Amino acid sequence: MKYAVEINNLSKTYQASKNSTAKNALQNINLKIKKGSFFGLLGPNGAGKSTIINILAGLVKKSQGQVKICDIDVDQNSMAAKYKIGIVPQEIVFDPFFTVYESLEIYAGYYGVKKQDRRTDEIISALGLKDKANSKPRSLSGGMKRRMLVAKALVHNPEILVLDEPTAGVDVELRNQLWQYVRKLNQEQGTTILLTTHYLEEAEELCDEIAVINHGKVIANDKKENLMQLLSRKELIITGNNCHQKSALDFKEADVVVRNLAENKISITYDPQKIEVEKILKNISSTKIEIKDISTKQPDLEEIFKFLVQSSKNSY
Ligand SMILES: Nc1ncnc2c1ncn2[C@@H]1O[C@H](COP(=O)(O)OP(=O)(O)OP(=O)(O)O)[C@@H](O)[C@H]1O
Ligand SMILES: [Mg+2]
Repeated sequence: MKYAVEINNLSKTYQASKNSTAKNALQNINLKIKKGSFFGLLGPNGAGKSTIINILAGLVKKSQGQVKICDIDVDQNSMAAKYKIGIVPQEIVFDPFFTVYESLEIYAGYYGVKKQDRRTDEIISALGLKDKANSKPRSLSGGMKRRMLVAKALVHNPEILVLDEPTAGVDVELRNQLWQYVRKLNQEQGTTILLTTHYLEEAEELCDEIAVINHGKVIANDKKENLMQLLSRKELIITGNNCHQKSALDFKEADVVVRNLAENKISITYDPQKIEVEKILKNISSTKIEIKDISTKQPDLEEIFKFLVQSSKNSY
């Protein structure tokens, strides 16, 4: 098996209701998620991320297309597909009557996990819920509820873990703790991870493949390294004396932009494929500008994301 998830020509139209018109939430989506990968599904609000995830979870009925989970066609064997996947939904919903520990045991029971194979204690401590094991969901804080959702998705040791905005409203310490655990599942157990998040620095750090969707269409889908190369642009920031002399800088190459950031600071934006940094520095030393300090910046995933979403707008 090469792919954990295979989505072909998937479309979804939410039917019109009393209060809303029909909505084409997904249009011909094709996505292949390699087994063992850490896959980021990114997109602005309303792009269709949760719709895809809810279709994988069997919570939303697709209008068209084919979905396979671990080679199992969900139309042919939805139960078998459900056993392969653990889903952490974006919306927090709980059974209020059971404690954290009881709920996890009940879920493990649903999936038919035998008593001796259950990992309830392990999951509870991995997610920092030990102190709350005997509390009812009502008494948990927002971040703790989210941890419990993650715990619930893991009770049957799924091959694929799907996290729909798992860190919204979660503090830094828990985010780090959660990512450490999810990374371990990915690296040590080979669990495939599918993640949606609006924290792009998290996606940049964690994911090896990324798809960006907007208005229900895939607008980019590639290895992270390739996406990061998409904007071939770097920025050199020079701090020093005589920065007002920047007009003496003489770049014949197109696309080199020189700006004053402060009295003693200039920014030089350039395309590293068109001009070498050595040439820029030589050019500076031929002027009266005296360099005291240098730093460089390159586009992060956030900038790439903005660029992709902006360029895709032209096609609507
Ligand atoms: N049950 C529903 N009935 C009607 N329309 C819906 C329903 N669920 C979602 N939509 C619409 O489908 C589109 C995609 O929504 P979806 O929740 O998949 O977006 P998303 O990418 O997850 O956004 P977010 O980042 O805000 O979570 C939106 O226009 C949304 O309003
Ligand atoms: Mg969503």
